[in-house]
Amino acid sequence: MAELFDDIFKESKIFSKREVLSPHYIPHNLLFRDKQMQDIAKYMTPSLKGERGRNVFVYGKTGTGKTSCIKSVIEKVKGLPISKARITYINCRVYNSRYRILHKIVSDYLPLYAKRGYGIVDIYERIINWIEEDGKILVVVLDEIDSIKDLDDLVYTLTRANSDIKAGGITIVGVSNKVSFKEVLDPRSLSTLDENEIAFPPYNSNELSQIVKERVSEGFVKGVVDPAAVNLAAALAAKDSGDARLALKIIAKAGELAEEKGMTAVGPNEVTEAAKFAEEEIAYEIINTLPEHQRLIVYAIALLSLQGSRYKRLSNEGEQYLFSGDIYQKYVSVSQSLQKEAKSSRWYRKFISDLDMQGIIMSYESGKGIRGHTKLIKLAYPPEKIKESIEKTLQRDTAL
Ligand SMILES: Nc1ncnc2c1ncn2[C@@H]1O[C@H](COP(=O)(O)OP(=O)(O)OP(=O)(O)O)[C@@H](O)[C@H]1O
Ligand SMILES: [Mg+2]
Repeated sequence: MAELFDDIFKESKIFSKREVLSPHYIPHNLLFRDKQMQDIAKYMTPSLKGERGRNVFVYGKTGTGKTSCIKSVIEKVKGLPISKARITYINCRVYNSRYRILHKIVSDYLPLYAKRGYGIVDIYERIINWIEEDGKILVVVLDEIDSIKDLDDLVYTLTRANSDIKAGGITIVGVSNKVSFKEVLDPRSLSTLDENEIAFPPYNSNELSQIVKERVSEGFVKGVVDPAAVNLAAALAAKDSGDARLALKIIAKAGELAEEKGMTAVGPNEVTEAAKFAEEEIAYEIINTLPEHQRLIVYAIALLSLQGSRYKRLSNEGEQYLFSGDIYQKYVSVSQSLQKEAKSSRWYRKFISDLDMQGIIMSYESGKGIRGHTKLIKLAYPPEKIKESIEKTLQRDTAL
C-alpha cells in the first residue's frame, strides 16, 4: 500500500512552496498599497497611543487587498510596546449580528465570562467595565461589515458605549466591497462610520503582473513559469476586475494543470485553460454565499441569457446584453414559481449594483433611444454553468 502515498512525498517539479499560493496566505510585501497601509496606520495612531480615534471606513472591489492590508497592519502593531490599545479583527461573514460580535469580543478578552451564556445587556456592561478598568481603547475591525444583519443597532450600541465610557473608548474600522450598502444604512450610522475613508482601487494589468511575479518567485520552482504566462494571468484578471485573488488563482491552477500533465514548465496555454477553471470556481463560491434573492436574480439572468435570441439585436461587440426591466420581470416570475415573495424594484436596483461590484454581472447604461435610459446587463460567467450551480443551491435550500 505504500505506493498510495508516493505522490505526497515526491518533490514537486512545479511548486517549491505550495502554501504561498493558498488564498489564506498573507504576503510579507503588499505591493502598491503603501498609501493605504500608511493611512490605516495613521488613523490607528491615536488609538495606539491610548486616545480615542476616529472611525474608519475602508472600501474597494473584491481582491483589492483590503483584508490583507488590515491584517498585516494588525500584525505589525503586535510588535509595538502598546499598553492601552486592543485590536480585534472580526470576520462579519461569520459573526454577522450585534450579539455575535459583542460575544466574540468578550470571548477574546474575557473568556471565562463568555462561557456563561449571558444576555446582550450583561455582555455590553462587562465590555464597558473592562474598558474602564484602565482606560483601554478597543479597536474593532469589522471586515465584510455589510454582512451584519443589524448593523444600525450595532453601530448605535458602540457609539452609545463611547458616551457611557468614562475612561477609554471604542473605535470602529469597517471594511466592505459593496458600494450600495451605504445607501441602506441609517444616515446616523453612516456618519458615524465614515469619519475617515480609505479607498482601494482595482489593480491594473501591470500591477497584477508584479503581484503575480512576486508570488511565483516565492511559491514556484525557479524558472518553471514562463514570464508570458505571468503576464497573461495578470491581463486576464485585469480585464475582468483588477482582482489580485483571481490573478493568483489562475497562476496556481495553471501550475496544478502542468503538474497533472507531468510537465516541467508553465506556459500561456496552461494559463488560458486555468483561467476558465478559476473563473468558474470563483463564480460558484460567490453564488453559493449570495443571499437568496440575489441568487434568484442571477438565476433569472441566466435563464434569459439562455433563451437568448430575442435580445440578440442589442448585441454589443457580439455579446449579449439584457434589459434590466426584463430581468426584473423574470425574477418576479421565478420567485412566484418558488412561492417566494419578490422584492421591490427599488431593492432590485440595489442588488444589481452589488452584483456588478462583485463582478458577477457586467452592466452599463444605454444611451437614449433604447427604451429611454435603461440598464443593460450581462452575466460575467457562462449562463449554463451558473444555472446548474444555482439549481443545486436551490435544491439544497428546499431540502432543509
Ligand atoms: N498588493 C498586493 N500584493 C500582493 N498580494 C496581494 C495584494 N493585494 C491582494 N493580494 C492578494 O490577493 C488576494 C485577495 O486579497 P484580499 O483578500 O486582501 O482582498 P480583499 O480586498 O479583502 O477582497 P474581498 O473584498 O473579496 O474581501 C490575497 O490572496 C492577497 O494575498
Ligand atoms: Mg476581504
